[in-house]
Amino acid sequence: MADYDYDVLVIGAGPGGYVAAIRAAQLGLKTACAEGRATLGGTCLNVGCIPSKALLHASEYFDAANGDTMAKMGIKVKPELDLDTMQDQRKDAVKGLTGGIEFLFKKNKVDWLKGYAQFKDAHTVEVDGKTYSAKNVVIATGSSVTPLPGVEIDNDKGVVVDSTGALELSSVPKKMVVIGGGVIGLELGSVWRRLGAEVTVVEFLDQLLPGMDMDVRKEASKIFKKQGMTLKLGTKVTGVDVKGKKAKISVEPAKGGDAETIDADVVLVSIGRRPNTEGLGLDKIGLELNQRGQIETDHDFATKVDGVWAIGDVIPGPMLAHKAEDEGLAVAENIAGMTGIVNHDVIPGVVYTQPEIAGVGLTEEAAKERGKVKVGKFPMLANSRAKTNHEPDGFVKVIADAETDRVLGVWCIASVAGTMIAQAAQAMEFGATSEDIAYTCHAHPTHSEAIKEAAMAVTGKPIHI
Ligand code: FAD
Ligand code: NAI
Repeated sequence: MADYDYDVLVIGAGPGGYVAAIRAAQLGLKTACAEGRATLGGTCLNVGCIPSKALLHASEYFDAANGDTMAKMGIKVKPELDLDTMQDQRKDAVKGLTGGIEFLFKKNKVDWLKGYAQFKDAHTVEVDGKTYSAKNVVIATGSSVTPLPGVEIDNDKGVVVDSTGALELSSVPKKMVVIGGGVIGLELGSVWRRLGAEVTVVEFLDQLLPGMDMDVRKEASKIFKKQGMTLKLGTKVTGVDVKGKKAKISVEPAKGGDAETIDADVVLVSIGRRPNTEGLGLDKIGLELNQRGQIETDHDFATKVDGVWAIGDVIPGPMLAHKAEDEGLAVAENIAGMTGIVNHDVIPGVVYTQPEIAGVGLTEEAAKERGKVKVGKFPMLANSRAKTNHEPDGFVKVIADAETDRVLGVWCIASVAGTMIAQAAQAMEFGATSEDIAYTCHAHPTHSEAIKEAAMAVTGKPIHI
């Protein structure tokens, strides 16, 4: 057998790659991880999940103090925005967590190969002019912003920006136009609306948040409008004209009709992300991409090329950090000869707006395509904790198979929906019926009781409506 420098060489240190590298090392495999960024943690820790949540959290406090949320509870304050400090705490959060991964690499004896990696052959990779051989190579190169044809993103100038530029604005724009009413557009649009921007979201489809349950999508639109966002649904952008520090966005109805222009100080392009495969040298190992530019793998995350594996945003499935992390664990365990499995039917998704929007499993529409279903719904307005906390918006919806009662999907809009959805994912992982959830004792008063009552509504009646 050939001698290799490493048992495992992971390309990319995002949540997929760094988790795969640490687990491989924990399992006794000699491991390296190549990363071209100056810090570890990938998109998620550097310019994604973590900095966006730092700004969402801080701006939520500002909004609560600025609007009537605190006043309703007898707290009268007039907040003053110190954006520099808000941005500094975002940077601190990123620094702390990316530094934490560097510490974990050292602790677990994972070698960080600094630079962008390129295949020479299936077992040889070049990083910064040096070559390294490995018995197994894991591609975890993640994704980057999908550009809008004809629209140039310039984060330094700060007029037409992507999510990275939108995180780093040094002043609150008076008018912000968000192109794409998906997760990034709504989260970062919410940040800048809360801090004072007039935000217009232009979405090509008839509803926000494609992929989510239709009831949730419709309710989300109502809530965002109530919060003061202007939504232009079923609308396409035909051009963005930048003059100095101002932009004019030309839009027209997606199905045809009169064109109009919208003025903006900042335009956020958030129309999706695409896998990072350019420059990897995949042609050298004979690995082809599918039509969406992704690397296909089998259930074990092995590609068609012996010894080459792939995980995270670069392979099919939702582009989510926790999905990448679970695949990272599984691929390392499979390489070590164990059985690493990810159940792709039960991956929760959360939009961290206020209220939060979360779901796991099938939408009602998708479930109905497969067979007969029963649906139970419960409004947050009737949940004692949400009502007491002045958080009336949203609902929980449980979708179960009409014959077996097995839970097929759970959808929530609630202030803490991201936390609530974990119990639904766990119940589904254990093959729970709606009755199992309905008969599980939930602590009172908690928002999670709304999941119990929605489950009660599947076969019978909840108590509180
Ligand atoms: P990435 O995190 O993209 O990491 C890949 C790494 O590989 C990068 O650091 C890159 O520099 C490196 N790389 C690429 N090519 C090479 C090469 N040739 N050699 C060496 N290194 C290379 N997901 C959530 O679940 N929750 C959230 O709240 C959330 N918020 C987000 C907010 C924003 C603004 C964005 C943009 C994304 C967000 N995501 C969120 C998505 C999440 O960031 C991704 O799903 C996740 O980071 C994917 O992990 P990954 O390991 O596959 O790839
Ligand atoms: P997205 O896929 O969530 O949304 C893109 C939206 O843009 C869609 O609604 C789409 O219909 C619309 N669109 C596409 N082309 C358009 C056009 N020309 N004009 C107008 N609208 C157009 O993508 P987004 O928001 O860029 O996020 C990328 C990925 O990052 C997400 O898929 C998600 O997986 C991940 N992410 C996850 C977060 C979370 O888990 N909380 C937070 C942020 C990002």
